[in-house]
Amino acid sequence: MPAQSPIRVAVHGAAGRVGREGLPAVEAAPDLELTAAIDPPAPERLPPGVPPDPHAADALRERPSDVLIDFTNAAASLAMAPRALEAGARPVIGSTGFTDAQVGELAELVRAHGLSGVLAPNFTIGAVLLMRLASIAARYFDYADVAEEHHETKVDAPSGTALAIARAVHAGRAERFQRNHPEREPLPGSRGAAFEGIAIHAARMPGKMANHQVTFGGPGQTLTLRHETINRECYMPGVLLAARKVGELQGLVVGLDALLDL
Ligand SMILES: NC(=O)c1ccc[n+]([C@@H]2O[C@H](COP(=O)([O-])OP(=O)(O)OC[C@H]3O[C@@H](n4cnc5c(N)ncnc54)[C@H](O)[C@@H]3O)[C@@H](O)[C@H]2O)c1
Repeated sequence: MPAQSPIRVAVHGAAGRVGREGLPAVEAAPDLELTAAIDPPAPERLPPGVPPDPHAADALRERPSDVLIDFTNAAASLAMAPRALEAGARPVIGSTGFTDAQVGELAELVRAHGLSGVLAPNFTIGAVLLMRLASIAARYFDYADVAEEHHETKVDAPSGTALAIARAVHAGRAERFQRNHPEREPLPGSRGAAFEGIAIHAARMPGKMANHQVTFGGPGQTLTLRHETINRECYMPGVLLAARKVGELQGLVVGLDALLDL
């Protein structure tokens, strides 16, 4: 049987924190081939030995790619998606910050080209599993607290993943969670933010990357599910899985869970 040709992968946002992690991950995978490292705003930040591709559209025309991995931002990702699809590259998007309307726009674009794509706000397999396990546990407990910790430069709080965990926990239970409302609160906000009776707490400090946990409470017992990450390599198994599977999908698939066969 002839050996299968490798999946050709371009990386958009290749000089960024996650993009720079993607280059060696693609290069190390025997079934993937790195075709282009695209980051027009910061070619000087690409790792040594990686030739910069100043013009994204040219790069994809000159070096045909099956997949475009994107870790830039919502605006850059939306601008790049039509060019990638026109060149036949299926987008695997990790950028965050899309509105629901923009996700709809992306889905329509992918459909119009008769191709497929993946958009996953969280590519860590552990966090996706945490959400699924939390939604199972939710119906057996009356109290739930979500706590997240991130690096000090994160722009939003709580994280999108903490909100997604709270939504999954809420969806796993018919009734609203119980919540203690203090009679006195010398420091307002001490009980954290609230989503459907679930308290959410966010910490920001150097030394942390992205950690999430949910603790459920019931009579005489608690259950804590916790996911920790120590570096951006954590996204790569999920990203590579999406790069390998995107060719078998139809339309835009949102969320890594859809690829995990849970
Ligand atoms: N889905 C996930 O699991 C996940 C994980 C981490 C980060 N993110 C998201 O991924 C994105 C990137 O995160 P990061 O920490 O690597 O950010 P970063 O700022 O380190 O990197 C972003 C890169 O995109 C480049 N860029 C900006 N505009 C561009 C454009 N128009 N064309 C091409 N490149 C452009 C920048 O030069 C930069 O190198 C963010 O939206 C972040 O929220 C998602």
